Amino acid sequence: MTARISEPRTIAVFGLGYVGAVTAACLASVGHRVIGIDSDPHKVDSLNAKKAPFYEPGLEEIIQNTVSDGRLSATSDIRAALTDADVAMVCVGTPSERNGNLGLDQLRRVCEGMAAEVAGRSRQLIVAIRSTVFPGTCDDVVIPIFSGLPVAVVSNPEFLREGVAINDFLVPSLLVVGGHDKAAAQLVAALYDSLDVEGCVVSLRTAEMIKYACNAFHAVKISFANEIGALSEKLGVNGNEVMDTLCRDEKLNVSKAYLKPGFAFGGSCLPKDLRAINYRANRLDVKTPLLCAALPSNDAHLDRAIQAALDLGNVKIGIAGLAFKEDTDDLRESPVVNLVEHLIGKGRDIRIFDPHIRLESIHGSNRNFLFNAIPHISRLLQPDIESLLGWADHVVITQKPGKELGSALRASGLPLLDLVGFESARPTA
Ligand SMILES: NC(=O)c1ccc[n+]([C@@H]2O[C@H](COP(=O)([O-])OP(=O)(O)OC[C@H]3O[C@@H](n4cnc5c(N)ncnc54)[C@H](O)[C@@H]3O)[C@@H](O)[C@H]2O)c1
Repeated sequence: MTARISEPRTIAVFGLGYVGAVTAACLASVGHRVIGIDSDPHKVDSLNAKKAPFYEPGLEEIIQNTVSDGRLSATSDIRAALTDADVAMVCVGTPSERNGNLGLDQLRRVCEGMAAEVAGRSRQLIVAIRSTVFPGTCDDVVIPIFSGLPVAVVSNPEFLREGVAINDFLVPSLLVVGGHDKAAAQLVAALYDSLDVEGCVVSLRTAEMIKYACNAFHAVKISFANEIGALSEKLGVNGNEVMDTLCRDEKLNVSKAYLKPGFAFGGSCLPKDLRAINYRANRLDVKTPLLCAALPSNDAHLDRAIQAALDLGNVKIGIAGLAFKEDTDDLRESPVVNLVEHLIGKGRDIRIFDPHIRLESIHGSNRNFLFNAIPHISRLLQPDIESLLGWADHVVITQKPGKELGSALRASGLPLLDLVGFESARPTA
């Protein structure tokens, strides 16, 4: 049994499809007063007759209880729905257009309908977009429709899955609200405060983007497991056992590890092992397009970094970090070596510092790789960070700096091209 909300609000839910009907019924079940609006009279009648407008396990029971209690009703009259509303939630469809672009006709129409009705209103109305919309839609499409009106627009994406939608709503995996008006975003987050979830109040565009990031991540996870399963089967290996065992690692596999935007990967294992797995899959006639895409994706990411460094122009560029990651002196397949080769090739003036690279102590394949790629490395490598910072006009950060290096970089006051998210990890005062 879900607890009741501490501060009940009046909420108008626009669109009584899968998302809207579940949202309306569940918000009413935690104690809010909810009015559903749909342009389809069948859905309005159905809800008022205490029937779910489509099949979703558990939905009809909640509709029966909340309509009987007087906390949920439906109408096709926008003005009536908005009269007492604190929040209007938009749950209309955003179907694909032929070219794959998102169709915003329903969203535009419903917002224009609301705008016409709130013209004389003195109290603020919060319009929360629950439909899936691409980042920038609220700023570029929704907010202009309400220009000059007492309306705050927030994004509050929905993450439910059909078939288990009630449980997903009442036991949420994630609650995200974003808006320029933080008080409005907080109020929308508080609509769910009887549920066991800590709301993430973020920027408007982050809230819009997070929905796409989640769905893309889910799709990539499914495709990854399927490709590993198909390849395992061809190799006579039990793919379920492989993936179950992979999921036992909650430190590196099913965890936050590797899930931050940063610099390209490299080193002596990931590129080599990806090449081997794709070569073998190809020979076995198993198509692994997702696994094949990882190296080109990495190259594209490295190209972006190279372009950003070239765009610095003819300044003295200090490179902080040469190995493929921090705390190692392994240079094999380091994307930084590749970056340096490009900068030198384009005539840029560069110097490098890496706290773990001492030319006199690098041997074997590591040394060969480095001297083949950058023959005059000894002239470029600086003995300490002070020498690099004293020389450079601009610093490119290619590895997560340790505490001391990080402090030196910040204290230098030099402009930084941060390829690793070092600046976003800066502690806030
Ligand atoms: N279905 C899901 O599992 C799911 C999950 C998360 C997010 N979403 C997103 O939520 C949004 C809604 O999805 P859905 O599956 O509920 O769509 P849906 O097509 O089932 O429902 C949309 C409803 O909006 C109504 N509508 C259209 N124009 C209207 C208007 N001007 N005024 C009032 N009502 C109007 C339609 O009649 C329909 O009942 C989409 O953006 C979708 O991508 C869907």
